Amino acid sequence: MIKNPFLVAGYESPRYFCDRKKETEELSNALRNGRNVTLTSPRRMGKTGLILHLFHLIKEEEPKSAVIYVDLYSTESLADFTKVFASAVINQLESNPMRILKTAASVVKGLRPTLTMDELTGKPKISVDITGGDEDYSLEQAFQYIQRSGKTCYIAMDEFQQIANYPETTVEAFLRGRIQNLHNAHFIFSGSQEHMLREMFLSPKRPFYLSTSLKSIGPIDEDDYFAFARGFFEEQGRDLPQEVFHRVYQNYEGHTWFIQMVMNRLYANPARVIDDSLVQRCVLEILKENEYYYQSLLRAYSKGQAKLMRAIAREGKVKELTAGSFIMNHKLTAVSSVKSALTRLLDDEVIYRADEGYMIYDRFFGEWLRKDI
Ligand SMILES: Nc1ncnc2c1ncn2[C@@H]1O[C@H](COP(=O)(O)OP(=O)(O)O)[C@@H](O)[C@H]1O
Ligand SMILES: [Mg+2]
Repeated sequence: MIKNPFLVAGYESPRYFCDRKKETEELSNALRNGRNVTLTSPRRMGKTGLILHLFHLIKEEEPKSAVIYVDLYSTESLADFTKVFASAVINQLESNPMRILKTAASVVKGLRPTLTMDELTGKPKISVDITGGDEDYSLEQAFQYIQRSGKTCYIAMDEFQQIANYPETTVEAFLRGRIQNLHNAHFIFSGSQEHMLREMFLSPKRPFYLSTSLKSIGPIDEDDYFAFARGFFEEQGRDLPQEVFHRVYQNYEGHTWFIQMVMNRLYANPARVIDDSLVQRCVLEILKENEYYYQSLLRAYSKGQAKLMRAIAREGKVKELTAGSFIMNHKLTAVSSVKSALTRLLDDEVIYRADEGYMIYDRFFGEWLRKDI
């Protein structure tokens, strides 16, 4: 049983998942009709949650199918990719971990499976290592394993842009070729680095050129979010006033994780009445807890870069960072130094370039910079 219904990590079940009905339907429709999908959004908007929700529903509707979620976030090479991918594939396709160990030699040549206990669930699971350092061969084996299973497989490769950073330059082409020939699997490629993914899927020079439908997700609709949130407070016998929710939603522009964080705190707070001042106290609590992290983040940058962060935080969103007025108002130095600071901060994902302008990516950090507490 979960005590707090506002999850700030992972996916639990439809009860704790707000809306996304249209997105779920669109994804499901695309995959079931043979269209692979590229899914993008800023970090913490809800891509991973949406994928896990979709997979949960698919599993209910098609119990015989397999859903395979692969998180590539921490992978840095083809060897990492192969390990993570093969582990996910084996764990999902083989329901009996003991059997896979027994038949390992014949089923997945080149992969060395070991049985471990999942620390969270206590259930046995397989992790694989690569024998002989032949990743190409091992990866090929994993794909053949999918093919031989004969099951309809739904496979998500999350934070897919990572593969463009691997030292091996052939991974993209290899995957494209393999995926194209795999007729029992449907793929979602998702990630937060939209420009990188767009380049991978929309540039004629790249192997994945026009091979998927591109889809991006934005914030959850405010009314749907409010209904979802209010329901949980009602179960507590508390009322979440619509205006209070509205101001939270507006303040974070509906950015999912930030709303979840505030709702989570409100829910945990024993105060009966939910009003703006309680919201403020909850947010302050979050900022205080992260203060050490924010300070060290600031210290990791030069004075000029930190100044630019503060300037952007104060403005909220800035259309033209090199505009004379912006530079004057915030006493920044030359255009050239703003430009080079910007490049670094964008690369590090401290600053995000939204359609309406540049902003601090982590909205709580932005708030902290503004408050200067
Ligand atoms: N539809 C939703 N309803 C409730 N919580 C959600 C929903 N989508 C995402 N979340 C929560 O928001 C946070 C960020 O979502 P996540 O899917 O990890 O974002 P992303 O993958 O885009 O970075 C997670 O803690 C998740 O639990
Ligand atoms: Mg994610």
